[in-house]
Amino acid sequence: DMGGHDTYMHKEISEQADAVDRALRGRIDDRFSTVHLGGLNLDAREARGVRRVKILGCGTSYHAGQIGAQMIEELARIPSDAEPASEFRYRDPVVDPDTLYVAVSQSGETYDVLAAVQELKRKGARVLGLVNVVGSAIARETDGGIYVHAGPEVCVVSTKCFTNMVVSFALLALHLGRIRDLSVADGKRIIEGLRRLPGQIDEILKGEEEVRKLAAKYADAKSMMFIGRVRGYPVAREASLKLKEVSYIHAEAYPASELKHGPLALIEPAMPTVAIVPDDDLLEKNRAALEEIKARNGRILAVAHQEQEKADHTIVVPKNEPELDPILIGIPLQLLAYHTALALGRDIDKPRNLAKSVTVE
Ligand code: F6R
Repeated sequence: DMGGHDTYMHKEISEQADAVDRALRGRIDDRFSTVHLGGLNLDAREARGVRRVKILGCGTSYHAGQIGAQMIEELARIPSDAEPASEFRYRDPVVDPDTLYVAVSQSGETYDVLAAVQELKRKGARVLGLVNVVGSAIARETDGGIYVHAGPEVCVVSTKCFTNMVVSFALLALHLGRIRDLSVADGKRIIEGLRRLPGQIDEILKGEEEVRKLAAKYADAKSMMFIGRVRGYPVAREASLKLKEVSYIHAEAYPASELKHGPLALIEPAMPTVAIVPDDDLLEKNRAALEEIKARNGRILAVAHQEQEKADHTIVVPKNEPELDPILIGIPLQLLAYHTALALGRDIDKPRNLAKSVTVE
């Protein structure tokens, strides 16, 4: 049942305020400015002993993991990174007893992720799951974890589950941070930010018509560049993947800082750039990248907290806390992919050559 929407993708994008609300419900502990994650199975002493976090997933879930790794480093100060599960399992990885492994998956059935979990378990590692489908294979094989509570996702491409995965990582980062050195004040600041998310998501969704018009302006592109820096880079990667999957327009994502090391050669009017420009401590650096692109006659669509003078168009998103901003910035870019695909008449819920869960090698 699409509930009045023309596609599941549109329905699922539109449901995100409720989905995030569900991920937060019953988990916030105001007394200690932290969160309770009932299924984690990791006591405070064990959490303090974690020296690294390694996040494994595929596709969109891998991108959610990249944002999650950044959040864990920032809030808990534990060195963290994400890697495609499909690569990890084939490179005979060193399994370290002080590393906490986190397997991320919407379906909980993705074979590459499941195989990575089984390999880790075989070698004695502690593995958590960050999973949407309750009781799925990955949820069962892991030592504990966090359900992301996005609700059923029917469209082949992931939208609301991505958002809820990132919110779930914020909860994990806050939890680990408050066991370690994150202050009460910062814990409170993040909790207040989390509580603002559903309202801000609705505010973004109210701007859909504007994104639809912009999508029509860029739908003639043969290829698009997506750029962002640090917190913005995995968001750029996810937005680029989403556009490719549903519109079949080629797209690449680059860290804005890498432009001058090669991809600047591609910039010309036929290659528009979507630039993520949050109002954080990298704002001036990001603005400089816009100037470099403009100097090569590139068209720019910025997603930012304020109108960008150097951009041809800006989608303005509401500001939250810097650590949580990636959650909100991703949402208009889902709408951009959706409306581009719609303008091009694509089969949005079932893009060619793709399946909802990849349970084979
Ligand atoms: C992207 C997409 C895929 C999945 C990937 C992992 O929109 O749908 O990239 O994210 O196949 O699937 P799960 O999360 O079920 O493990």
